Amino acid sequence: MINTFQVKNPATGKNMSTVTCNSPEEIKQCLQKGHDAFKTWKKTTAHKRSHLLLKWSNLIQKHKMDIAKIITEENGKPLAESISEVDYATSYIDWYAEEAKRIYGRVIPTHDEGKRLIVSKHPIGLVAAITPWNFPAAMMTRKAAPALATGCTFIIKPAEETPLTTIRLIELAHEAGIPADVIQFVNGEGKSVGEIFTGSDLIRKITFTGSTPVGKSLIKASADTVKSVTMELGGHAPVIITKDADIDMAVTQTIITKFRNAGQTCVCANRIIVHESIINEFSRKLVDKAKQLVVGNGLDKNTDIGPIINEVSYKKIVHHINDAIEKGATVLTGANYEVDNENKTFFIHPTVLTDVTDNMKIMYEETFGPVVPLITFKELDEAIEIANNTPYGLAAYFFTNNYKVGNYLFDNLDYGIIGWNDGAPSAAHVPFGGMKESGLGREGGIEGIEPYLETKYLSIGNL
Ligand code: SIN
Repeated sequence: MINTFQVKNPATGKNMSTVTCNSPEEIKQCLQKGHDAFKTWKKTTAHKRSHLLLKWSNLIQKHKMDIAKIITEENGKPLAESISEVDYATSYIDWYAEEAKRIYGRVIPTHDEGKRLIVSKHPIGLVAAITPWNFPAAMMTRKAAPALATGCTFIIKPAEETPLTTIRLIELAHEAGIPADVIQFVNGEGKSVGEIFTGSDLIRKITFTGSTPVGKSLIKASADTVKSVTMELGGHAPVIITKDADIDMAVTQTIITKFRNAGQTCVCANRIIVHESIINEFSRKLVDKAKQLVVGNGLDKNTDIGPIINEVSYKKIVHHINDAIEKGATVLTGANYEVDNENKTFFIHPTVLTDVTDNMKIMYEETFGPVVPLITFKELDEAIEIANNTPYGLAAYFFTNNYKVGNYLFDNLDYGIIGWNDGAPSAAHVPFGGMKESGLGREGGIEGIEPYLETKYLSIGNL
């Protein structure tokens, strides 16, 4: 097990901080504290928890610019995206601060005059979260806010690439008055902390955002103690552009969904499936816009696309581009790189590939980078087949101004999140999550609080 790790700015390679890993004993002590704190936190009123959550959200907003800078420095995304991520992060806290007051039970009409049947909802216990580096603030609050709102206690292991945002958010939670043992963080290597979390009897729920292979191993390891799990896993989002789409709008929205966070999001477009009659116009306009995107350090105000998070991710993206080229794809723009091997910084220019076929890795593996593969279709059912031909089922997008076509696509796409003429469907008040190997459960919206609750049924007899 490693003892420390460095948090590096992916745009410069500069060391931002050296973080000490918690030992297994320390992690277990934290779990005990979280477990003990649950006994009192669950008894605080929903109104008190709501009030504390709102205080936390206000403090984050007060320090918005500092937090956004930390996000850009450790993750690389443009500062404007980090600022909107802070807003996105607090929107989850605000939403669940209100939902805390709406955790209702019910009285079931009885089958027997002498009985009363009551259902009530209770917090599940200590929740452990493992969060990714691509949205270090929002993925944390999307889990912490509903957990705390219900009366659960919470412990988080942030990604090794971006722990500083989480540490700052938790400091502010404590400053807001949320007790120290109610929300805690630990640092360490993913695999070893994951094993401690999944092996512990004290944790009743694991919530994870990250890759499908890691999610599968967490699900398996959680089975021994029958923990509840929420899994937000990988995606391979299709974008279908039909012949009656507004092409300019489809181009603008495709740019938004593809290049947000340099293409390093689970919901970003991976396969653009365009009707053959409009491919020339669509690809010309897309390439024109992609060429205008400025690649650079996220702190420079003109930057649209920041660095790739690390060398492993960079190599995977380049491998996908080269694999496609070797198998016959044509590069319309991009496939050029700025690499500093000494400082380990990696930038990829927005890349658009055409003549793509379904045997290319880019068509079935998650690329997680600023690359757009274009493929054409003739009949709508062919587009649907291409779109659904994946083990993933997180997000899908389509562009059409024909409502019958739109409804048909909505009915037939096997995805948990669907954007119709919309490249940015995420929000705190809507459900986020995937079908098939993209995950289990939903976060956000009214759906996002249920996984933190147990249902208790009471039958009162002899009335
Ligand atoms: C993700 O990439 O998992 C999060 C994206 C979002 O919330 O929109």
